[in-house]
Amino acid sequence: MAPNTQPVLANNTAPIEAKDSSHDSGVEDIESTVSSTQSLTDSIREHVYENGRRYHRKSQGKYALPSDETEQDRLDLSHAYYLEMLDGKLSLAAFNKDPANVLDCGTGTGIWALEFGDEHPGSKVVGIDLAPIQPDWVAPNVYFELDDLEKEWTFPEDHFDYIHSRNVGAGIKNWERYLRQMYKHCKPGGYVELSEHSYHNLYCDDGSMSDDSPFLLYIRTVSQSLEKMGMNPNLVLSDYKRLLADAGFVDIEAHNFKCPVGPWPREKKQRRLGAILGEISRTGFEAYGKAVMTNYGSLTEEQATEMIKECVKLVDKGTQHMYGQQWCLVARKPE
Ligand SMILES: C[S@@+](CC[C@H](N)C(=O)[O-])C[C@H]1O[C@@H](n2cnc3c(N)ncnc32)[C@H](O)[C@@H]1O
Repeated sequence: MAPNTQPVLANNTAPIEAKDSSHDSGVEDIESTVSSTQSLTDSIREHVYENGRRYHRKSQGKYALPSDETEQDRLDLSHAYYLEMLDGKLSLAAFNKDPANVLDCGTGTGIWALEFGDEHPGSKVVGIDLAPIQPDWVAPNVYFELDDLEKEWTFPEDHFDYIHSRNVGAGIKNWERYLRQMYKHCKPGGYVELSEHSYHNLYCDDGSMSDDSPFLLYIRTVSQSLEKMGMNPNLVLSDYKRLLADAGFVDIEAHNFKCPVGPWPREKKQRRLGAILGEISRTGFEAYGKAVMTNYGSLTEEQATEMIKECVKLVDKGTQHMYGQQWCLVARKPE
């Protein structure tokens, strides 16, 4: 197993050029789910309804995004987005043979775990999440468990050949401990892969995003609210790299992807990715912002709704060439 060093995945730091008109669309042995801690009983199906969205009770205080059908659709579309971003690859780590034991942290709808299991029939994939939003019927090599990744992991030590963690930043308060647990339960010679985006800033290369942009107002308010909740919205690529090294991982490969929101870029692939992310952002602004800004920040529901509406409108308008960043890191536990 070795990191994939295909040139197509090289770091992307060049400015993104906008096309002339931004109005046309660019789119074209951990056994089964049944155990005492994970059975899908009524008690763990409990929900909390707030501002028109459904949240899972077990996520309260731990993760402020909803878990309803709208959010599940957003997660599945986001998965399609990341596949497109990585040119069809589910991971940046490349494997000579199927990694025997695989863990997907914060698996969400389980779509990554299911596809990885499908592509790697020799792997046994376990997906962990706080919320029971995974399908009940799955391939025989894919298992889902409900648990909090911030608690002590009960897996055997030196167990996993590959640990995957994508976009769990809004649910991890103690990154040092999280990565120490990954290290402890990763096999010597095994790989971990992190994929996280910025929760602290939104970017623009051509000056079209004003300092008083609703995008910036939104991300700053979300970031402050997440911080009050106990999260670490300020982490950037170099921090994740340092955290992985501090946990003991070596051969750390770090990739930076610029992610335009809306079909405004001139270049075809960026325009298509921007169109998909623009679509994702329609419910994404609310998913990431609504509960945290009203429960941990000082916004009323009306103020949060207004701020989110402004951002969605601005994406549609396409005049402010805003992009986010996705940071992907692959690292190895020494033999
Ligand atoms: C933004 S979603 C990403 C889902 C999936 N990784 C993907 O990329 O499609 C984050 C997921 O992590 C889960 N999560 C957040 N904090 C968690 C924690 N402390 N323990 C377990 N799961 C957590 C949430 O319930 C949610 O399903």
